Amino acid sequence: MHVLIINGSPRIKKYSNTDKILAKFTEGMCESGVTFEQYEISDRKKWDDIRNAFYENKDILIALPLYVECIPGLLMEFLETLTPKNDDTRISFILQSGFAEGIQLRCGEEYLKKLAGYLGCTYMGTLVKGDNFGIRFVGAEQREKITGQYEQMGREYAKDGGFMSEECRKFTGPEVFPAYVRLLVGLMFKTVARRSLNKVSREWGCNKPLDFRPYD
Ligand SMILES: Cc1cc2nc3c(=O)[nH]c(=O)nc-3n(C[C@H](O)[C@H](O)[C@H](O)COP(=O)(O)O)c2cc1C
Repeated sequence: MHVLIINGSPRIKKYSNTDKILAKFTEGMCESGVTFEQYEISDRKKWDDIRNAFYENKDILIALPLYVECIPGLLMEFLETLTPKNDDTRISFILQSGFAEGIQLRCGEEYLKKLAGYLGCTYMGTLVKGDNFGIRFVGAEQREKITGQYEQMGREYAKDGGFMSEECRKFTGPEVFPAYVRLLVGLMFKTVARRSLNKVSREWGCNKPLDFRPYD
């Protein structure tokens, strides 16, 4: 099997969490001899090449982050330039996000089911997973812990070119956190996470508080 992989994040490859996830995912996927070519939607100069690859390939995987509850606008802009295929092409999705509960991604997942039809492709499932905010901020060891889980999902995908298996369904984790976890997360965002985000923003050259309101 040869797979066309499209990273649907508007962030350039170097800074894209989706790219770090794909690096691990493809390691697992290629173990059984699957090959792939990967493109980034953030690179507009490549849009003609991505379009050609879309028409030429029969197994397509679009990996995308959740942006404001659904798919990123730049990816949408690209998809609107495509003509539906209707040639038995199979399409799957990796939908990943910042917030951890599965329920946050379900609206996006429902849209992707429809999108497969709009593109004239057969829907082969969506791998749904949150809790990925940290990939860009954390050190190498912690990053490996977050992204390493996707290696096994790459192996699963290689079996039948989709995400319909029970193992892929379970990969999402908890649909909704119990009340005490939600309380703890809320507390963390006000304390530990806030301090660490302030530190990261200073390192990135931000010299105003994160809650700065220039228009007030
Ligand atoms: C503009 C913007 C909107 C986002 N909206 C959501 C959201 O609605 N829900 C969520 O869980 N995460 C949201 N996130 C977090 C991203 O989905 C998450 O950080 C993802 O790993 C980013 O992947 P990328 O670096 O490949 O773009 C948002 C991030 C940005 C920058």
